[in-house]
Amino acid sequence: MSARNGAGTAAAGDDFPAEALRAEFPALQRARSFVFFDNAAGAQVPQLVLDAVNRHLLDHNVQRGGRYARSLAVDDSIARARAAVAALVGALRPEEIAFGMNATSFIRLMSLAIGQTLRDRDEIIVTDLDHEANIATWLALADSGAKFRWWKMRGDGCLHSEDLAPLLSGRTRLVACSAASNALGSITDLRSAAHLAHAAGAELFVDAVHFAPHAPLNVQALDCDYLVCSGYKIFAPHMGFMWGRYELLRALPTFREEFIADEPPGKIEAGTFVYENVAGMDAAVNYLARIGRLVTGRAGAPQAQTLREDTRHAMQAIQSYERTLSLELARVLEDCGARIYGIDDPARVPERVPTFCFNMPGFLPQAVTEAAARADIGIRDGHMYAPRLMARLGLARESGAVRVSLVHYNTLAEIHRLGNLLSDLRATEPRGEA
Ligand SMILES: Cc1ncc(COP(=O)(O)O)c(C=O)c1O
Repeated sequence: MSARNGAGTAAAGDDFPAEALRAEFPALQRARSFVFFDNAAGAQVPQLVLDAVNRHLLDHNVQRGGRYARSLAVDDSIARARAAVAALVGALRPEEIAFGMNATSFIRLMSLAIGQTLRDRDEIIVTDLDHEANIATWLALADSGAKFRWWKMRGDGCLHSEDLAPLLSGRTRLVACSAASNALGSITDLRSAAHLAHAAGAELFVDAVHFAPHAPLNVQALDCDYLVCSGYKIFAPHMGFMWGRYELLRALPTFREEFIADEPPGKIEAGTFVYENVAGMDAAVNYLARIGRLVTGRAGAPQAQTLREDTRHAMQAIQSYERTLSLELARVLEDCGARIYGIDDPARVPERVPTFCFNMPGFLPQAVTEAAARADIGIRDGHMYAPRLMARLGLARESGAVRVSLVHYNTLAEIHRLGNLLSDLRATEPRGEA
């Protein structure tokens, strides 16, 4: 098959309205021909989100908790955002949602709390596939007497539940894993992990930062206990949010000032968070809900009490469209002679999100991303904040690999532009060792 790519090489991604949605992202319009293929490091925001952030700063940029109208409006805005994010993840009540700066600080906050509850359950299971944010934060509990067991990925770049089972025992306090790898894109079978962890009397902590922009989240169906996300990966500005089962959060010892009640969400929200970005997160959920109404033929319908259903439909449609992108990207990379790390079998596309890690034999990762930058394509090289994973892949931490990470506003045409760039590169003299 020719490596020079054009239209008509893959099914047209169902009838997902990618082009129409691109028009809602001012950054995509302003960037003209630039290709945003580094979304795992942060996604663009739709106009709806920009408007919400602006509105907050213009109309009620004041502290919450006052008795005047502007301050009451901040309280309302935070309450709306909590309800929206609760709907997005399937929380039972808005108080199960906490807002903060980012995912890493939430994971550390949780590790500090859980570290105080170890007693005779002193073992924590971490993986060698995760972002370091969901490893180092737990390893820091060594000082509190925690012991660690490693759930290792297999050669296919996935975590397998069969490998988790023998690690669990009556000593296990918690399993910490990600819903999808930010480096390889592989999806973890969380339902099985939760089942196994609970059978051993342990809890499951999920890093859903990389998974959340790509597929429906349902914490009830997954049966996990805690879940963390970053807003800036899911079409909102920089902020983080966390969900936890109410009674579990209630029981955890967390740092809080004396005047903060020992109740979620306040007890896991140290200090003031960025209200305008939380307003932006609310708008991002509403953007997704609008996609849900669009793909179910209810574009003009008023935003009723259907946020959960609308966002679920949106994420299902996004997931299905992104599978088309994954199939085409895998085909293009293979045509260009790339060595893909992780799932490369088209039949296993449902087990991944459209995040691909690869190297071009004979070229340093940096040479590939620099060539892409010259062609106005933004991709990334390095260890992807998963240095242990790079070591497992036999890759040097300093150079690592190349990562291309797509979301629903990316298109087949953009993939073909990358394919053309890589085949042109391949035709030049190799200059590295990768
Ligand atoms: C899977 C995963 N976990 C955690 C993080 C850290 O997120 P934050 O920057 O919100 O702390 C990232 C960031 O890239 C990530 O991809």
